[in-house]
Amino acid sequence: MERHELPHAIVYTSNTGHTRQYAEMLGQKLQLPALALDKAITQLPEKSCVLYLGWIHANRIKGYSRAVRRFSVCAACAVGLCDMGTLLSEVRRATSVPDTIPLFTLQGGFCSGKIKGLDKILIAMLQKGLSAQQQRSAQEERMLQLLQQDKSYVCEENLTGILAWYREYTAER
Ligand SMILES: Cc1cc2nc3c(=O)[nH]c(=O)nc-3n(C[C@H](O)[C@H](O)[C@H](O)COP(=O)(O)O)c2cc1C
Repeated sequence: MERHELPHAIVYTSNTGHTRQYAEMLGQKLQLPALALDKAITQLPEKSCVLYLGWIHANRIKGYSRAVRRFSVCAACAVGLCDMGTLLSEVRRATSVPDTIPLFTLQGGFCSGKIKGLDKILIAMLQKGLSAQQQRSAQEERMLQLLQQDKSYVCEENLTGILAWYREYTAER
């Protein structure tokens, strides 16, 4: 049976806090420290095995490329506004996550008051563009609906998939 290296930490990048909340929850469940990427770079040895969580920005996982340059990422979670488990192939492609790395999408939330600068402009443009469209796909309709509510979807139940993967991963060791 293949032997896997166990992760030493949960490393994350969060803008408005949802990803940090998931990282901390996961850290508690797996009894691993949860460290923001900048801190992890100063505290963990290079090539450390980590589980990476980053928020989704236009289908890309924020901080992922930096994390893989520095650490050995055994699995990645992309936290977005999208529903649980959706956008997987889009995020994998846009972020160049190889098929060998398990990827999960978790629903974070939307907190308009915490979004600043260019991101604020991008979100306003997206909202305006979607609202103006005469016809919207089901995915576009759902995104517009989610953008119109300031809401957090973070909950422990959403970690079921990643926890099941972790149990299997550690059992194979
Ligand atoms: C500029 C911008 C682009 C975003 N792009 C996406 C996206 O492509 N797909 C998605 O599901 N969510 C997208 N989101 C929503 C965030 O990923 C979501 O709010 C997430 O919970 C933020 O995590 P955080 O609170 O840890 O920063 C975007 C948000 C912003 C501000």
